[in-house]
Amino acid sequence: MKLIRPSVVALHPYIPGEQLHVEGLIKLNTNENPYPPSPRVDEVVRSLSVESLRLYPDPLATELRAVIADLHRCKVENVFVGNGSDETLALCTRAFVPPNGAVASFDPSYSLYPVLSAIADAPMKLLPLADDFSWTEPPADVAPLFFLTTPNAPTGTMYPREKVEAFCKTFQGVVVLDEAYADFAPDNFMDVALSLPNVLVSRTLSKSYSLAGIRLGYAVGPTPLIEALNKIRDSYNVNAPTQRIGAAALRDQTWMRTNAQKIIATRENTADALRVRGWNVFPSATNFLFARPLAASAADLMQHLRANKILVRHFSAPRINDYLRITIGSDEQMQAFLAAI
Ligand SMILES: Cc1ncc(COP(=O)(O)O)c(C=O)c1O
Repeated sequence: MKLIRPSVVALHPYIPGEQLHVEGLIKLNTNENPYPPSPRVDEVVRSLSVESLRLYPDPLATELRAVIADLHRCKVENVFVGNGSDETLALCTRAFVPPNGAVASFDPSYSLYPVLSAIADAPMKLLPLADDFSWTEPPADVAPLFFLTTPNAPTGTMYPREKVEAFCKTFQGVVVLDEAYADFAPDNFMDVALSLPNVLVSRTLSKSYSLAGIRLGYAVGPTPLIEALNKIRDSYNVNAPTQRIGAAALRDQTWMRTNAQKIIATRENTADALRVRGWNVFPSATNFLFARPLAASAADLMQHLRANKILVRHFSAPRINDYLRITIGSDEQMQAFLAAI
């Protein structure tokens, strides 16, 4: 008796970064923010009543979506909210890929996309970036859905605006611009999502707003695409505390921007310090660095750092296994990292 779908039996699940709980650990492996969330989040958390948990959340997340619409100067109908941006991305594979359709993305980019396409029983078309991980032109009809990570992960690099815009205009299907790291970048493509019929921007509160723990992401774009996502999501996909906490965090743009600026400054200092040590460091528009150590192998160095209670991320995929992805922590944490290497 076969109890499990063959595609699930064959599935290689996504491997998240380790969440170790060890005293004194310096966690530079999952692109979390080293600074606390806004004090307004603290106020909301303290005001949450146990009694209110009896009730279901607002299924339309009206207040939260209004705050997001305000922030991006669009209508509430242009905003979808999800249980982390990973949920948004998963729903895109269900809403926009017809039976026998494929999912496409560049390689390397976010390693969750092939897992989502496998779950949706859709073939994944991975289009290799150039040798230096710069842009290569994807065919306009490669798949009904293209996940374009901008700035890219794990390389941290930004693609030229003209390339992204021209691609979005000619692509025959839906382009999801995964802007998980856009708040650390000099540019973003929200204007493109709000002007073309086939483009969504996906954002998260996990990185720049220091809220990975509440699981909140959102998508902005044309109403028909947003409606499609809303039709197929769970009715209560964003829980009540998360709706309130998320709205409070998004209303405090000053807090988020100040922390993002601090992280950008630390990022540039750390990149310089690594280059002085002979590392090959990609220019980053994110809250992490993608870098190749001078002497040791990346895998060995990761283990050495781990033994010193410093976690960084190493990927074993062939084109990127010489590199480490290092989340930018506080200045003190980065000093400890530099001392350990
Ligand atoms: C490119 C990219 N997209 C999405 C996510 C997931 O974000 P969330 O925490 O909102 O699910 C990540 C997290 O690492 C990411 O790197």
